[in-house]
Amino acid sequence: MNNDCQPQFAETLDPENWDEVRALGHRMVDDMVSSLQTVRERPVWQRPPEHVKARFREPIPEDPQGIERAYEDFKELVLPYPKGNIHPRFWGWVDGTGTAFGAFADMLAAFMNPNLGVADHSAVHVERQVINWSKQMLGFPDNSSGILTSGASVANLTGLLVARNSIADVDIRNHGARAAGGKLTLYGSAETHSSLIKAVDILGLGLSAFRKIPVDKNHEVNVEALRAAIVQDREHGRIPFCIVANAGTVNAGAIDPIDDLVALARSENLWLHVDGAFGALARLLPEYGERLQNLHKADSVAFDFHKWLYVPYEAGCVLVRDGKKHHQALAVSADYLEPQSRGMAAGPEPLSNYSVQLSRGFKALKVWLSLKEHGIEKYRRLIRQNILQARYLAELVEENVKLELLAPTPLNIVCYRFNPGGLDEKELDRINREVLAELQERGIAAPSYTLIDGKFAIRMANTNHRSRKDDFHRLAQASVAVGQAILCAEATDVPTLGQSV
Ligand SMILES: Cc1ncc(COP(=O)(O)O)c(C=O)c1O
Repeated sequence: MNNDCQPQFAETLDPENWDEVRALGHRMVDDMVSSLQTVRERPVWQRPPEHVKARFREPIPEDPQGIERAYEDFKELVLPYPKGNIHPRFWGWVDGTGTAFGAFADMLAAFMNPNLGVADHSAVHVERQVINWSKQMLGFPDNSSGILTSGASVANLTGLLVARNSIADVDIRNHGARAAGGKLTLYGSAETHSSLIKAVDILGLGLSAFRKIPVDKNHEVNVEALRAAIVQDREHGRIPFCIVANAGTVNAGAIDPIDDLVALARSENLWLHVDGAFGALARLLPEYGERLQNLHKADSVAFDFHKWLYVPYEAGCVLVRDGKKHHQALAVSADYLEPQSRGMAAGPEPLSNYSVQLSRGFKALKVWLSLKEHGIEKYRRLIRQNILQARYLAELVEENVKLELLAPTPLNIVCYRFNPGGLDEKELDRINREVLAELQERGIAAPSYTLIDGKFAIRMANTNHRSRKDDFHRLAQASVAVGQAILCAEATDVPTLGQSV
């Protein structure tokens, strides 16, 4: 090889001109802070137009376009068409809102760019502290363990994985799920989140291993039906190993009777995993003490920081009451990962031994900095505010003869529909799908949808620290006005779009 071509092996991704990067960085910060500050003035959502989507089909760039033009592309193609979940009237799915300081924390994390899998460095200690704070929030004992995840889906997967690998008498870790002869069975309410069903699949248990137990009128699992299913399955030679409890179902925010499920799991010698993606953090409020004070008696609990702690995506967590089981279920030994007596690898137990990931980003920093910024009492007030706002919307719905509440509001979710009377169920479903689409497409508000007892529901899930009382008033009013406009337009054959509400 001709070394003249590579005199100093000087290729790098670092800039030639650091001042140029610094100046652009300052502008980016200014642009982003201004954009967040003025978010209320923009529509909640707008579809990316065709000419923008076409740009996303361009081939990979062969030549450099430089940071200025790349940033212009971001401003032109990406920034104007967000999902909208930072907007005060976004209440779809259970999307969190993020914060300015949380975003800066992600920037700091990206600059440091540590990999938290192994080694002794500050980022690992930050994550360990965040896990300890999480134990305090949910009442878990000191010897419990935990790990930060991308979100509650992977936290749920991790909880079920530890449950599966901890089954006494069957060595799943060595022999796989087949060691149980395809008989492993787990239980949860019919309202259990789809991420748990996916986890069952990933764990090789087969979807039919998950028994969906009916719920009562409050959408809480029927504990007696659950008990009967376990007994029946045992009689048929199956191996029940886990109950999944919901602390806040995705559909309506229902909280399963945790105390009864703790007692049932203990008497049946089953693992109790709680999916508390958002609802677990309601435990911070004394008024939810009665429902959630025994959450820490579960064997594992999954929850998200990116939902009800409002940190930017992604950040979830799983806590496991018996830290040893957590470690046994996930630790691997490899020559290149073995702890050493000195040097970088002489640090604390590698976090990767509690995680499905080896390389792990520094998502703990935004949680750590956010909790330092505000203190936990502020989060108590915000979570309470979101719940009271949901109740306020439920009241507005109940007061309005053209709106119908479809489920109780035990937490922060309101399921309702436009129902002016005189329409059959099929018509109501059709009209409400249109009402929702119009609310979203006109950028007024972004609730999402679900089915409640088979009925199409407009669903408002509130983990939004930017919403104000008037935003809920506007949603209720607009739901009626848009519904009425659709009915009028259908009666007179006039398009609805563009009418003001
Ligand atoms: C009850 C519940 N469980 C699990 C999840 C999955 O969480 P994530 O999207 O953070 O993976 C969600 C998401 O909304 C949820 O509402």
